[in-house]
Amino acid sequence: MARGNKKQRERAVAADALTVLVCRGGDCGSRTKHPDVDHVGLLREMKETVAGSARVVPSKCLDACEHSNVVVVVPGARDSEPVWTGGVNDRELNTALCEFVRSGGPGVAELPIEVELQQFRPSRRNCQELDVERSMPGS
Ligand code: FES
Repeated sequence: MARGNKKQRERAVAADALTVLVCRGGDCGSRTKHPDVDHVGLLREMKETVAGSARVVPSKCLDACEHSNVVVVVPGARDSEPVWTGGVNDRELNTALCEFVRSGGPGVAELPIEVELQQFRPSRRNCQELDVERSMPGS
């Protein structure tokens, strides 16, 4: 029983944590589609910069490939909406996203202009894929 309680606490903590889903599905992270992008370096920068502020989780395809590379900042609080950003293919936008996350993310921090310009409205299908990814163990 104590073990079950610990798992429940861990899940509760995870549910409250600010999470950054970095899509690394088919098109996102693809060297074929984006040969000049340092995909590994951008993911590394995100992980290192937001450590202690958010969890960074590489995800499978979120069905928004036309916006690749896609990054979704998911707030811990349910009263704020996730921020979907497309075209995260350079250091400038990635760094702006990192600062947004370190400042508290959706519902807390102001969106940097770089992020605002690349933000897109997800479809219902995109949101379903996000829910699937968030329900995966380790997400
Ligand atoms: S591979 Fe990222 S949205 Fe499809």
